[in-house]
Order: sequence, then structure tokens, then C-alpha cells
Amino acid sequence: VAVIMDGNGRWAVRRRRPRSIGHRVGGRAVRRLVECAVRLEIDVLTLYAFSSDNWARPAAEVRALMRLFARYLATEIPRCLENGVRVNVIGRRDRLAPGLVKDIERAEAVTAGGARLLLRLAVDYSARQAIVAAARRFPRRGPDDPAAFASVLNRVVHSPRAVPPVDLLIRTGGEQRLSDFLLWECAYAELVFTPRLWPDFDENDLTRALGEYRRRERRFGRVPVPARSLET
Ligand code: IPE
Ligand code: IPE
Ligand code: MG
Repeated sequence: VAVIMDGNGRWAVRRRRPRSIGHRVGGRAVRRLVECAVRLEIDVLTLYAFSSDNWARPAAEVRALMRLFARYLATEIPRCLENGVRVNVIGRRDRLAPGLVKDIERAEAVTAGGARLLLRLAVDYSARQAIVAAARRFPRRGPDDPAAFASVLNRVVHSPRAVPPVDLLIRTGGEQRLSDFLLWECAYAELVFTPRLWPDFDENDLTRALGEYRRRERRFGRVPVPARSLET
């Protein structure tokens, strides 16, 4: 499951509060979602926290978001350890503050034994940049097949292990676009869009999205199952 956590700014503006408050309350929604994901036995949860294009936001907002990541890593580690959650930050690290990179490395090392849920936080993440970086690792013939490419793609974003393609992508906040998130990994993902703003996203919304996912028929290019049995 992957989530584009959108709508923090609008949540705050509707309350006549600064956007950073929306991000802070959004952090609580992350905590809630992670706990639900563990309970629901979701294998891999990838959350879009900061896109490479988000650097273009006002400096104060970017600072607030970076502070929030650092705080999240500091405060959530014990809970992650308790719940068997392995933390991994995907994206570029060369533009993050050195202190934050240290915090990320520490969080990843400490939680490396977590086997119930792989929690991937996408920070300074751009799917297109990651694809280009992975492609550069194949200077001559290119990869032999999509699986070979996928494993290098995982490596360039600092993923600790092979991760299956996304089954369900949820985007909150009402927008219906991918905003450069997991373009390769979402090749056959089911997309669920909800108008709910991220800080309000709760267990019911997750359950609803999972219900919608279960009702979808995934065909992967084939014909629907009943049609197939009629012809054979
Ligand atoms: C998503 O909420 C969080 C980040 C991009 C960091 P936004 O801040 O994009 O919220 P809206 O879309 O402006 O409401
Ligand atoms: C996508 O949201 C990035 C994150 C949720 C972290 P944006 O709010 O940045 O995306 P756009 O600008 O609406 O496409
Ligand atoms: Mg947004």
C-alpha cells in the first residue's frame, strides 16, 4: 500500500492556521495509519512525505517539515520497535541536512529487525529522478528485464530489500494525480482517490479504501475470469 498524503495545507487554511500546523496534525495521522497497517497485516507501507519538487515551497514551510521528520524519527522509534516496524527512508539524501541523514541512518539501523511492516517514508523523492539514476547504472545494454531494473531502482532510493509492486495507491486531498510518486512501481496499482484531507484520514478511511480495492477486478491485461472459462 502506498499513500500520497495530501491536503495538510488546506486543512490548516480552513481553520485559519499556518500550513505548518496542518503538517503537524498530519504527523498524527501518520502515526494512526502505521498502527492500523500493523494491525491489518499490511506488508509494505510507502508514504509520500516530501517530494523533490516540494523544495520549491517557502523556506519556512520546508524547515517546518524537516523538523517534523526529525521529530517523527526521534519519537516513533520505540513504538516501531514494539510493533515490529522496520523504518526506511526512500529518496535522495544528498540534499538533506547531515544531522537528519544521521537520524535516518540510526532509525533504519535500530529498526532493521522489524519483520511485521516495512514502513517506507519518501523524503526528497522523485520517481523520475530515481528512474534516471537507476538507468545510469546500466551504461551499455540496459537491464535484461523489468525485474532487474526494479532491483536497481530499489537500490538507488536506499530501499533495504526487494519490494513488490504497489497493489493499492491512495491519494487524499481530492487531487487525482501521481505527482511523481512511484511511477514505475504503480504500473498495475489500483488507484483510490479520496477528498478527505490528510490530517483527517483515519482507520475508517483506510478500511474504505481497502474495501474498494477488494471490489476491483485486477486483470493485468487478461480478460475477465468468467469470459475465460466460457471460451475454454
Ligand atoms: C501534503 O499536504 C504534505 C506535503 C506535500 C508535504 P500539502 O501541504 O500539499 O497540502 P495542500 O495540498 O496544500 O492542501
Ligand atoms: C505530493 O503533494 C507530495 C506529497 C504529498 C508529499 P503535492 O501537494 O506536492 O502535489 P501537487 O503539487 O498538488 O501535485
Ligand atoms: Mg498538496
